[in-house]
Parts: sequence; structure tokens; C-alpha cells
Amino acid sequence: MKDQYSLLAPFYNRLTKLVFGEDLTLAKRHFVENIEGRKVLIIGGGDGLAYQSFQNHLSGEYWEISRAMLQKAEVNLEESGLSFHLGFFQAEKEFDEVWLHFVLDTMLDEEIESLLREIRKSLKPQGTIHLADFFSPQNFFQRIKQGSMIGFFRIAANHKRKNLPDYEAILENQNWVKMAEKDFLEGWVKAQKWSLK
Ligand SMILES: C[S@@+](CC[C@H](N)C(=O)[O-])C[C@H]1O[C@@H](n2cnc3c(N)ncnc32)[C@H](O)[C@@H]1O
Repeated sequence: MKDQYSLLAPFYNRLTKLVFGEDLTLAKRHFVENIEGRKVLIIGGGDGLAYQSFQNHLSGEYWEISRAMLQKAEVNLEESGLSFHLGFFQAEKEFDEVWLHFVLDTMLDEEIESLLREIRKSLKPQGTIHLADFFSPQNFFQRIKQGSMIGFFRIAANHKRKNLPDYEAILENQNWVKMAEKDFLEGWVKAQKWSLK
């Protein structure tokens, strides 16, 4: 499998901080609470830096399809109780929560649907999905930024999408219910928590 993030991995974190400041990190951390003793599944976590400050409380699994990102995460989160896996997530164990942070926007609708079916097999009955991602831009400048970002990632990381997924429609179709939501950047970025009906 070709590593689409091998070129970006060394400076991905600095780049997102330069463009968005701390907002994306805050969105990723927003629903992180009482994780001690909970099994967390992180899919597409990138270099893992957003989770470094509380890594001692983290246990579960970390799945990445980019070897370069995974190697960074292994170093950045070496004091965590996570096990690290290269490839597409396959359900084997049970988890309390699944974190999908800025990863669904890189996937086609059918990939999201199939990932959600796999996640469902491995989530405890009261388990939750924690989503953080880009939604509709709220003003002219955000629309320009979003268009440039999509173009940049199509070239630099071979992203297939030309738009954003309708996360809510896809989740609701698979019987997920939104429990909580927090807006960042005026609602362009949202952190959401979902559970099964
Ligand atoms: C836009 S980056 C975001 C990284 C990180 N979540 C962050 O917010 O900094 C998307 C990441 O998801 C990974 N990824 C994409 N599809 C994936 C999949 N099906 N399973 C696991 N990782 C995936 C990519 O390799 C990349 O590291």
C-alpha cells in the first residue's frame, strides 16, 4: 500500500497549526473525559501529537494506513497503553469509544459506510463515536480556505474527494444518534459524540 502521507508527515502538525492555530487540537480533545480504564480505538490519528499530553491515560488501539504517520505516533505516544497497527481497521476486540478525527473527510462515502460497519462490530453496546471534522464553511474566507485545502490534499496526499461527506446523513442511515456537539471556527469545524439507537 502506497503511503500517501509520507511527504506530509514530517510537517503536517506545524502546517495545520500555522493555518488553524489550536482549534483543530481543541476539537479533537473536546470530548476526552474520564478515559482512564476505557478502551479507545483511534483510527487515522496521524502523528498523535494532539493526544500526547494525556497519553498516560490512554489505552486501546491506534490504526493508521500511513507508515510515516504511524511511526511518528509510536514515538509521540510511547508512554500510552495503545497498541499500534498499520493498515485498515479490522474488528477483533471491543472498545468503549472510537475517535475519528479529521479522517472521514479523506474518504469516499462508501469507504465511510464500510468503516462504520466494521466499527459497529467492535463497539460495546453503550459505546460512542467521537467525530471531529470540517463541516460547511461559514463565510467567504472559509470557503476559499476549504477549496484550497481540498485542492492541496488532492495533490499532496492523493485525496479522492472534491467535497465534504455528509457525515450526519451517513451516520443516521446506520442508526447512529447525535448526543452532543461543539462548534469551533464558527461551526466550520465540529466535535460530535454519537451513540447507537
Ligand atoms: C487529514 S489526516 C489527519 C490526521 C490526524 N487525525 C489529525 O487530525 O492530525 C488523515 C489521516 O488519516 C489516515 N487515514 C486515512 N484513511 C484511513 C483509514 N481508512 N484507516 C486508518 N487511517 C486512515 C491518513 O493516513 C492520515 O494520517
